[in-house]
Amino acid sequence: MIVNNNIIEYINSLEGELPTHLKELEEIALRDNVPIIKKETQSLIRFLLTLIRPKRILEIGAAIGFSAIYMSEYMPEDCTITTIEKVEMRLEKARVNLSSCPKSDKISLLEGDALIILEELAGKEEGLYDFIFLDAAKAQYINFLPHILKLLSPRGILITDNVLQDGTIAGSRYAIRRRDRTIHTRMREYLYTITHMEELETVVIPIGDGVTLTTKR
Ligand SMILES: C[S@@+](CC[C@H](N)C(=O)[O-])C[C@H]1O[C@@H](n2cnc3c(N)ncnc32)[C@H](O)[C@@H]1O
Repeated sequence: MIVNNNIIEYINSLEGELPTHLKELEEIALRDNVPIIKKETQSLIRFLLTLIRPKRILEIGAAIGFSAIYMSEYMPEDCTITTIEKVEMRLEKARVNLSSCPKSDKISLLEGDALIILEELAGKEEGLYDFIFLDAAKAQYINFLPHILKLLSPRGILITDNVLQDGTIAGSRYAIRRRDRTIHTRMREYLYTITHMEELETVVIPIGDGVTLTTKR
C-alpha cells in the first residue's frame, strides 16, 4: 500500500456505486483473487476517458475482462476497445464476460502473448490508439514499450498500472524477496525510460498500486 488506508477509504467513500454488472464482476474477481484495477485507478481511468474522449482503446492484460467492461461504460459511443490476454484460465472467463456485457459489440479480445500481438498490430498499420492501458506482466513492460509507442497516436495517452509495486520500487532491490528482484529491476528500467525519453512526457502518480500517464511531446 502506497497511501494511508484511511485516506484511500475516505476517497473511495466519495465514489458512486458501480453499475450492477460491474459490481458483481468486481466481487467475483476479488473473491477469486483476480488482480483487477483498484477503485482509485478506476476513478482515474473514468476521468481520463471523459477528458480525452478516445476513439480507439487498446488494453494489454484483460484478465477476466473487468477493466475493459469498466472502460466500455464510460467511453464515448463511437469508441472501440481491443484487449489482449494470454492465460487460458483467464481467457475462459474473459470470453464469457466480454461477450455478455452491455457493450460487447464494441470490445474485441485478442488471445495470445501481448509481445507477439503488439508487434503484429504495430506492423499492420491498421490504425493508432489514442488510449492505451498497460496492465500485464510487469517485467515485460520495457519489452512492450517500443511497440506501444508505435501504436500510440500523437496526442494519445499511455496509462501504465502497478508501476510502484506496493511502494517497494522506491527501495533497494535487496530489500525485497529474491524472486521479485527481476521485476523490481525491470520496472525501474521502464520507469526511468518513460520519464527520460526526449519524445515523451510522463507523470508518476502514487494512487492504487502506482500509475504513470505518458504522452508524446
Ligand atoms: C493485473 S491483470 C489485468 C487486470 C485487468 N486489466 C483488470 O483490471 O480487470 C494482468 C493480466 O495480464 C495477463 N498477461 C500477463 N502477461 C501477458 C502477456 N505477455 N500477454 C498477454 N497477457 C498477459 C495476465 O494473464 C493477467 O490476466
